[in-house]
This record gives sequence, structure tokens and C-alpha cells, in this order.
Amino acid sequence: LGRNLHYHDSVESTQKNAYKLAYDNAEEGTVVIAEEQTAGRGRMDRKWHSPKYTGIWMSLILRPKIPIPKAPQLTLITAVGVVQAIEEVTGLLPEIKWPNDILINGKKITGILTELQAESDRINSIIIGIGINVNTGIEDFPEDIRTIASSLAIESEKIIDREKLIRTILEKLEKLYLLYLEKGFFPIKLMWESYAISIGKQITARTLTGEIKGKATGITEDGVLLIEDLAGEIHNIYSADIQIEG
Ligand code: BTN
Repeated sequence: LGRNLHYHDSVESTQKNAYKLAYDNAEEGTVVIAEEQTAGRGRMDRKWHSPKYTGIWMSLILRPKIPIPKAPQLTLITAVGVVQAIEEVTGLLPEIKWPNDILINGKKITGILTELQAESDRINSIIIGIGINVNTGIEDFPEDIRTIASSLAIESEKIIDREKLIRTILEKLEKLYLLYLEKGFFPIKLMWESYAISIGKQITARTLTGEIKGKATGITEDGVLLIEDLAGEIHNIYSADIQIEG
């Protein structure tokens, strides 16, 4: 990963650039990185605040030969790789909140956005966007997210070497991706579960169609979250915001 690396000082969104490169058949493993995004995108059409020199804003292109319903696995693989890299470089102990948030001390440090380019029912490319608040100061965050967001520098009280972290992330992701291609999702599912905070807890999941309350019992082979509601009925959650109740 990252042998073909596009580095920019400022872009609207690395995700947008990578999407275009993927469309133009850029090779698998192509990475787009920027020092600043002027229109960074989050999940569910939210804005992703990406001030200059403070974070890691990058998108990468993968082309696994998997059916479309298995695409969410790549989000979980990415989360595991980023957690491993953060642990190694900073000594902090991050946790994963399904599907893609990485938290430290309960605050969001990293978001992952996965998008697909597909032709009929075949995946052409998966574009994985990773946003990490690295050396962001609390005053760099918009006021409304200061209580829920944080950065590696705030949590470790040290300035973190962004280049080293980028290299480590690409190394970890490459290893996990090769493991995935060779052995399937199961070994990575186990690693993911060891970092996950939501499993076994009472949660509320807000989906586009409504709210589901219950106990998060695990994830499926495809990376879908399972919730058992009070009536004992099991729900498959493909996309939602979740809140942990206890
Ligand atoms: C989330 O909502 O948690 C996902 C945030 C993803 C942000 C990253 S930063 C690099 C890439 N480019 C974007 O515009 N978004 C993703």
C-alpha cells in the first residue's frame, strides 16, 4: 500500500480525489494524503473538520474480489490496522465503536468512511477514507464537538510524528489485508472484537428508518452488527449511529 502516493498541500477532500483516481483505474493500494481538507466529508453527509498540519487525512483504493455485501469488512479491517498503529506509535490504548469510530478515553479520535464503486454486482474499487486527529489542539475543534472529540496529542500530552504514524498505518493495513485475502475475515473479526467497546452492552442504534434499543451481541461474518431487543428478537444493523447505554 502507498507505493503510488499522491500528496497534496490542500484539497477539498482526499476521498473525492481518490474516487476520481479509482474511476481512472489507478492501481490498487494508491493513497491520497493532504495536509488540509477544505470540504472533508464524514459519514451520513456530515462535515469532517480537517485543519492544516494537525491530522492525517487520507484515502486509499483497494480492489478485493469480494461480493458487495462483504464490503463493510474492509471498514473493520481498517479500524483494526489504525488501532494497532496508534498503539505502537503512541502507547495509547484505543477502542473501536462499531462500525468505524476509534475512541480514546471515550472521545473520538478517528473516523473511517468507506465508499464503493461497483459495476452491476461487481466491486470495482473500495475507497477507504481515514481521518485522524493527531496534533489537533482543543481550540482547533469547532465548539460543538469539543466535548466528544479529542486528538492523540491531547490524550498522550505529546506531539506525535505524523509521518511515522502514516507509515505504520500503511504497514499494518497491508499485513491485515494480505491476511484477509489469504485466510478470510475470521482472524480479523477476532482482533476487531478484542478492541470493540459496544459488544455485550445495552445500546441504542439510530438508523435511517428509526431507533432500535437492545444488547449488542456481536458482529456477523460480514461485519453487520447484531442487536437483541427486549423481546429477544435479533436485528441486523448495516448502518447506524450507536450510543452505549451501559
Ligand atoms: C466519520 O464520519 O467518522 C468518517 C470521517 C472520515 C474522514 C476522512 S478524512 C480523509 C477522507 N476524506 C474525506 O473527505 N473524509 C475522509
